Amino acid sequence: MNSGSRFYVTTPIYYVNDIPHIGHAYTTIAADILARYNRLKGNEVFFLTGTDEHGQKVEKAAKEKGKTPKEHADIMVENFKGLWKKLNVSNDAFIRTTDTEHIKTVQGLMQMLFDRGEIEKRSYAGWYCVPDERFWTEKDLIEGNCPDCGRHVEQIKEENYFFLMSKYQDRLIDYIEKNSDYILPETRKNEVLGFLKNNTLGDLCISRPKQRLAWGIPLPFDDNFVTYVWFDALVNYFSATRYLVEENLKFQISNFKSTTDWWPANHHIIGKDILTTHAVYWSTMLMALNDIEPDKYRLPVNIFAHGWWTVDGKKMSKSIGNVVDPNEMIDKYGVDAFRYFLFREVPFGLDGDFSEDALIRRINTDLANDLGNLLSRFLTMAEKYFDGKIEIVDSSGDFAQECVKANESINKEDFWLRLQFNLILESVWNIVGAANNHIAQKEPWKLVKSDPDELKAVLFNIWNALRLSALAVSPFMPDAAEKIWTQIGLRSLTDETRENQEIFDWSWKPAYEIKTAKGEQLFPRIEKKEEKQKPEQKKEKPKMTEGVKELIAIDDFAKVELRVGKIVAAEKVEKSEKLLKLKVDIGTEERQIVAGIAKAYTPDDLTGKKIVVVTNLKPAKLMGIESHGMLLAATDEEGNMSILALDREVKQGARVK
Ligand code: MSP
Repeated sequence: MNSGSRFYVTTPIYYVNDIPHIGHAYTTIAADILARYNRLKGNEVFFLTGTDEHGQKVEKAAKEKGKTPKEHADIMVENFKGLWKKLNVSNDAFIRTTDTEHIKTVQGLMQMLFDRGEIEKRSYAGWYCVPDERFWTEKDLIEGNCPDCGRHVEQIKEENYFFLMSKYQDRLIDYIEKNSDYILPETRKNEVLGFLKNNTLGDLCISRPKQRLAWGIPLPFDDNFVTYVWFDALVNYFSATRYLVEENLKFQISNFKSTTDWWPANHHIIGKDILTTHAVYWSTMLMALNDIEPDKYRLPVNIFAHGWWTVDGKKMSKSIGNVVDPNEMIDKYGVDAFRYFLFREVPFGLDGDFSEDALIRRINTDLANDLGNLLSRFLTMAEKYFDGKIEIVDSSGDFAQECVKANESINKEDFWLRLQFNLILESVWNIVGAANNHIAQKEPWKLVKSDPDELKAVLFNIWNALRLSALAVSPFMPDAAEKIWTQIGLRSLTDETRENQEIFDWSWKPAYEIKTAKGEQLFPRIEKKEEKQKPEQKKEKPKMTEGVKELIAIDDFAKVELRVGKIVAAEKVEKSEKLLKLKVDIGTEERQIVAGIAKAYTPDDLTGKKIVVVTNLKPAKLMGIESHGMLLAATDEEGNMSILALDREVKQGARVK
């Protein structure tokens, strides 16, 4: 990666119907980190993201809203654009598959392949699930039914166009084996190779009859058909280089020429779920095109498939209600902390588990304690001893060497080519840790009188460590890095770095006077609230009420008397795994209530808690014990249970309505 190279990085184009979540944010921030690093390194960067807008789901959702698919997409696309702005994502361009130029490119490439006999019309028989509007093969079916929804499927025969992918199987295996970094991480490469070596690759159906799906790109050679995901979507990476590059480049260095060809991409960053489509479909499409016009459609340098995030140990899903909204995380913890966490916590490529507890831990230890503290200690000493003026001295010795070594790791080409973000960040924290130790060892406050020259050297060394740390974290936490940079008396991290690559070296020295300027605290500690420690007490996001059969009038609801009760005693019911016997003060009297919550709560958990009780229920006997009322509790599909407790002080007996 020499300075002045061309660097092109992409994210998947996101389905425009989705609301962006942590998974989308993850892929996009990864690409942003690479784009930012390469810009700092003086490379010409083109960073592309965008949206995938054709297909049945968009067509259907638009219809339900009484809009055209394009009108619907125009609204939905703003969710992505807005989030990328908020996340400080520095994409140079945003492609939409509904862009006229993209459509033209897709059609042009299809025509080329069709003319060369690489696309053929065939009759296609499959099992069709009408409600899901989806085809399945015989072996996909589960007991003869749709594997997705379990409903009846119909056999349908229709004509479609196929890209003759199968004939590229051996060439692709050979290519992947010869280009060891083509698919990363290694485990994913082996997965793809395993698949290709143990299966017979089929041909790829790339069309749908227009009467079944109109919202796609018309085939240039047959107007009765459209193409959509994937032939449409994958081509975005190439088509953008044909019409979106020049006018959109945020940063152009002097040797940029309008004739520069931006294809192929250096990295396609994707999630592991869409690896086959990229590694197999896209690669073979490019091989076929390349045979027609050699070198114009080369394969990308690398496809990197990252892992998936679960949340508090569970798969993210709308029905569980645990989808992490990045907007909310940014509002709560700040954009830099959120970005940092995602890439420090889990090696890029592996699956990870997201929890606010883990995020808070990272903020408090790495950011507030280590980096934040180092900065504020340095600034305080600089102001106290030298009025903020840092004298530039020659520095060597053990500490300098330690920093030089860690700095080499930070900029190690292999780490950046293989996207080992967590190792890069670990190296930054080696510098930060060494600097904190250096202060502890040197005890600058003692040097004020005993050795003022040594004090100057210590402060300059710490300054230099902070400078390199700021530079290194800048792709990950761009705002915080700029702030550190200016607080330690430098001018502009991004501008100065682009102009002068020596700035990456420990030995670089500014040509102007350094005067520190203490500013706001960058990473305030987050105090954990009780509710954050106990996930079972988290407020559930409201879910859509599905399957409500009968509506009731307010008078019907008023018949149920709900009151606040305070649990004054609790004990297990003998010989029962589920039941607890409670004494509950409901303001006017003490009630005995038997509740089926023993699997989720111990008696100790409950005593003193204020809960919601149905007080006008007819008494009932449970395992021979009388119960005079019922407490309210929620249980989800996975058996997680939470009683409804109050979150602030209200007297027992108060009516709940
Ligand atoms: N439109 C296709 C991509 C076409 S690219 C030519 C698509 N879109 S998507 O909206 O479903 O999202 C894609 C990205 O989000 C993928 O990279 C996927 O891996 C990522 N994620 C979705 N859920 C995720 C997690 N829970 N965790 C991490 N990333 C995940 O597929």
